[in-house]
Formats: sequence, C-alpha cells, structure tokens
Amino acid sequence: MNILLLGSGGREHAMAWKISQSPRCTKLFIAPGNAGTSQCGTNVAISATDFEAVKKLVLDEEIKMVVVGPEDPLVKGIHDFFLADDLLKAIPVIGPKKDGAQLEGSKDFSKRFMQKYNIPTASYKSFTEEQLNDGLKFLESLKPPYVLKADGLAAGKGVAIPSKLEEAKQELTEMLAHAKFGEASSKVVIEEFLKGIELSVFVLTDSKSFKILPEAKDYKRIGEGDTGPNTGGMGAISPVPFADKSFMEKVERTIIIPTVEGLKKEGIEYKGFIFIGLMNVDSNPYVIEYNVRMGDPETEVVIPRIKSDIVELFEGMAEGNLADKTLTIDERTAATVMLVSGGYPGDYEKGKIISGVDEVKDSIVFHAGTTNDKQGNVITSGGRVIAVTSYGKNISEATALSFNNAAKINFDKMYYRKDIGKDLLS
Ligand code: AMP
Ligand code: GLY
Repeated sequence: MNILLLGSGGREHAMAWKISQSPRCTKLFIAPGNAGTSQCGTNVAISATDFEAVKKLVLDEEIKMVVVGPEDPLVKGIHDFFLADDLLKAIPVIGPKKDGAQLEGSKDFSKRFMQKYNIPTASYKSFTEEQLNDGLKFLESLKPPYVLKADGLAAGKGVAIPSKLEEAKQELTEMLAHAKFGEASSKVVIEEFLKGIELSVFVLTDSKSFKILPEAKDYKRIGEGDTGPNTGGMGAISPVPFADKSFMEKVERTIIIPTVEGLKKEGIEYKGFIFIGLMNVDSNPYVIEYNVRMGDPETEVVIPRIKSDIVELFEGMAEGNLADKTLTIDERTAATVMLVSGGYPGDYEKGKIISGVDEVKDSIVFHAGTTNDKQGNVITSGGRVIAVTSYGKNISEATALSFNNAAKINFDKMYYRKDIGKDLLS
C-alpha cells in the first residue's frame, strides 16, 4: 500500500524511518518532509494544511493511508475533509477528526472534558475579553506562580507562568484585550500551578481499545540545568525511571481509561495518537495538557523502541481492530539529543551547511529542520536541526553515545544540551 505522511520535523523523520521498514508499505510519500525523510521515501513540496493539494497527491499516487504528524491539519479538519469527499472517504486518516482534535485545539474544551470525567488536572477558570475584570480579580485570589494559557493553538507559545501578580495581570490583559495570540487568546484559562516532574505518555486508540506506547521525558528549556526559555524540546529519554509499574497503573486507571471512555461518551470517534502531558505530583499523575499527535522530540525515542510493524498498528486503528494487534517494545533505553541553531528559540540564521553526519556510528540521525540546497548540500532550515538517537542498556550508555556522535556533526553556531538525562541518574 502507498502511504502519505504529513509533516516535516524530527517526529516525521522518525515516523518515516519506521513506516518505510514495514513490508506493508509499498511507496512512502512525505509532504513536505525534510532532507532526512527523502532517504525514506519521496518528498512532495506541498503544505500539510493545503487540503486540495493533499487530495490531488493522494489521488495521483494512489495513496491508501494518510498519517498526520502535526496538530495543525487535524485541528483544521483534514480527517473531516477526507470523510466529506466521495473520492477520499474510504482512505483512512490516522489522526482524530475536528471534534477529537479539540483536546489540543482548545484548552477550555480539554479542561471541561477532564472536569466532566474526573480526570486529575489543575483546577481552573476560563475568561473571555468581556470577563477581563473577573479574571484580574481571580488572579488576586490565587497564590503565585500564576499559570495562564491561551485557549487556542499558539505555536507552543500560548502558556505564561509569571511569578508576580502584576506580570500575571499584564499578561492576561495582553492576551484578552490586546489579542496577543490573535483568536487563540480570545479565551484564556487560568489554572493552579502544579509542582512536580513532567512526563509524556502516548496512547494509540481506535475508539474501542487502546495501546500504551513507551513513555518519555522531554527537556524543554534551552539551557543546561533546565534554565532559560522554553523550546520545542532539546532532547528526550525513554523509558523514564520514575514511571514505574505502580505509577503507570495510576496513569492508566485515572487518566487513560477515563479519557478513552469519555471520548466515547461524548460521541467522539477518535482514531489516532493521544499524547498526554503529565505532571508527577508526589507520585500522583495530573494532566497538564492533551495533544492529538506524537511529541517532538519524544517520537525520536518512542518510535525506535517499538519493535512491531507500525503500519499494522495503524491499520488496526483504521479498521477498529487495534485490540487484535500486537505491540512489542524494545527493553533498551533510547536517548535523543537535539542539535539546534545558535539563537534558537529566539532569532537564528538558516542555510548553514551541515557536515559530519556520515561519521556518526551506532546512533540514528533524525533530521528536523534540514533541507537540500541546489548543490545537494544538506543545510539548516529551522531552529531544531537534527536529533541524534541512541540505544543503551541504561540512560548513561545511551546518552554517552548520542553526545559522542553529536560532537561529530557540525554547522555554524550549532548548540546542544550536554545534560540530557542527567537529572534521571540517581
Ligand atoms: P502546555 O502548553 O500546556 O504544555 O504548557 C507548557 C508548559 O508549561 C508545560 O510543559 C509545563 O512545563 C508548564 N505548565 C503548564 N501548566 C502548568 C501547571 N498547571 N503547573 C505547572 N506548570 C505548568
Ligand atoms: N515535546 C513536546 C511537544 O511535542 O509538544
């Protein structure tokens, strides 16, 4: 079967790498892809949110399955677009419809959902522009730090955690009255601050049953020791030592089961990934957020730990017989280290020639922000450029291999964190 994968990051290279290993996959297309995905299939230069262009590609290339990497096309309704089209409706889309995608597309929706189904999460209130004064008063009733979240998608920038009341009031005013994130901040969720360690949990579901993929820990801050601004993610580790059997049993019982059951009760048919961002507060899991896609860079450690054929799992989701499919996990630890452009997550330059990738030994290089120039060089095209993933018998072994290989790669102003996984070594 011919398969189309939408997206262009490290997550998509990891998925393309895995899908292309499946005997079920005849030809793989990636749109738009990057310099790395072109080694796994054919890149097609169309945007993942240009649904008409996607339709043309699917029909021209006889594509029989579409796997959606990022949230944008899902929140914009690509799955609904396929179902509404006579020529496309029989082609499975891996990823929820618009109704399910609200779990990520609207913080207000996801908070109400969690409250309704008693899923542990921070207590909250939401406010619109008309309710700005109530919101300011509500902030006065809270203890710092304050957590403010734009309701809609804001490219990962919609969350502010000021420690001073005045800053919190200013942020709320900017979001609501001055449309800091446009339509996305026309509603704002203010919630209780949760203190603990974060963890990413991934679930596959066909709406009837679910399978839990390996969990991962992401390193979000740019600086070592978790300092400086938030990024898309600077590295990841899987498995996570504190996510032991008893903790994961709580996650399944108090979060995953009520989430899958809650979607069913809401009449939302959901076929795709659910990414649950959790906070471990004194050994109890609380949901920070839902995403309707895989994480990046978590995918670069989760996918390499899946031994089973991922296309068979996707078919199980599409056909509604996921329960009959097997999911086998590699026991080894996987670590990934993200090489980024100097200046990221602020302004950075693009177009730097990347060298040394051929020298990498015993690690997997997943491209994120890369492209090919006219001379055929691989050049940088984004903030996060390359993820170096390694296996090991433990975190030290896996990270050491990734650091060792990361040092062989070079581009002007390259930066990476050299402490990925360090906090988990005890
Ligand atoms: P989100 O976009 O919802 O994942 O939020 C971005 C980041 O803000 C999270 O990864 C957490 O580090 C932090 N965060 C969000 N909500 C809370 C909360 N209620 N308490 C503490 N930290 C939070
Ligand atoms: N690494 C966090 C995310 O993908 O949202």
